[in-house]
Amino acid sequence: MMKAIIVNKPFEVEIKEVPKPEINDGNDIIIKVLAGGICGSDVGIYNGTNSLATYPRIIGHEFGGIIEAVGDRVTNVKVGDLVAVDNVNSCGRCYACLTGHHNVCSTVEVTGVHRDGGFAEYVKTTEENAYKVNKDHINPFHVALVEPYSIGVEANERGRITKGDKVLVMGSGPIGIAVMQVAKSRGAEVMMTDLVNTRLERAMDMGADKVVNVLEESLTDVVSEFTNGEGLPVIVDSVCTPRSLEEALELVSPAGRIVSLGTGNKPSAIPQVAFTKKGVDVVGSRLNNYRFPHVIELLESGAITPEKMHTHTFEFTDVKEALEEVMNNKDAVCKVVLTF
Ligand SMILES: NC(=O)c1ccc[n+]([C@@H]2O[C@H](COP(=O)([O-])OP(=O)(O)OC[C@H]3O[C@@H](n4cnc5c(N)ncnc54)[C@H](O)[C@@H]3O)[C@@H](O)[C@H]2O)c1
Ligand SMILES: [Zn+2]
Ligand SMILES: [Zn+2]
Repeated sequence: MMKAIIVNKPFEVEIKEVPKPEINDGNDIIIKVLAGGICGSDVGIYNGTNSLATYPRIIGHEFGGIIEAVGDRVTNVKVGDLVAVDNVNSCGRCYACLTGHHNVCSTVEVTGVHRDGGFAEYVKTTEENAYKVNKDHINPFHVALVEPYSIGVEANERGRITKGDKVLVMGSGPIGIAVMQVAKSRGAEVMMTDLVNTRLERAMDMGADKVVNVLEESLTDVVSEFTNGEGLPVIVDSVCTPRSLEEALELVSPAGRIVSLGTGNKPSAIPQVAFTKKGVDVVGSRLNNYRFPHVIELLESGAITPEKMHTHTFEFTDVKEALEEVMNNKDAVCKVVLTF
């Protein structure tokens, strides 16, 4: 048996004794979990606002640990390796999968959302989903941060962010920060927004070129100054409200790109001409499309630096306090990591 964090129903989270997973297939890997990051969507499962969640559920989709056992067909990793686990599980046969976009597989299942996740002492995954991290080059607990950075790489790819681009990242939460650091590693110039000054200070500290508190300054004016009146070539929206997408369409340059990360279902009010007049590409970015190797390379080389993103650490048995902290202390919290 082992301990796992289970959300039975909204606001009812418990540490429960459940059977320890076992190798059933040659591809299987059992991981002794080391660390798991708490994400907004875990909070959504906890407080009942995640419409995709089903209960009861072992939560956790940002995690990694040490391999404890491997099936007889596993060759790329071995017992004792430190790995980060990709949470995307796809069918391999649908249009999206066959055209190289398995992150939007028509039947995609996310570990920790649609199936049991990583907030447990042991987890079973497969060789395909486990990516080795060099223990000597990164803080082992940062295996939990590979997943949020993979969202950052995906958004950069979708927005074709490249050297010299002026980029606006709306929102300075963990996802905005990840997008920003990846964009910086590509040589872009990045401006960020938020409503919370401590979040903007962290963004500056972690490498943003300019930050704007939209409660204190006119974003339109600052953008105009930042781009010499041209508008932004690339905007990544990690605020994800109906209004933020409208705002992005107003601030983007002709021929620019907008990347939406939103998962909400409230509509924005957008006239068709907003797309047509400027000939903009508006794309969605979901999860990550095999970006773990690239993230690990960026982490190991120091091109991205998660130390200041990781603001809080809790023992997994204190998960309730950790979830409450994420919900109620936006001023101080960026990423909370649970240790197992
Ligand atoms: N598509 C995906 O694969 C994917 C993956 C992870 C997260 N997300 C989404 O990305 C978004 C960001 O995630 P996060 O974990 O960073 O969330 P977060 O809530 O920590 O960050 C959002 C930030 O936006 C700020 N904000 C709110 N209104 C604003 C405004 N009008 N202008 C500027 N800033 C404003 C908030 O203060 C906060 O700091 C969420 O909506 C989440 O659902 C999408
Ligand atoms: Zn997440
Ligand atoms: Zn598929």
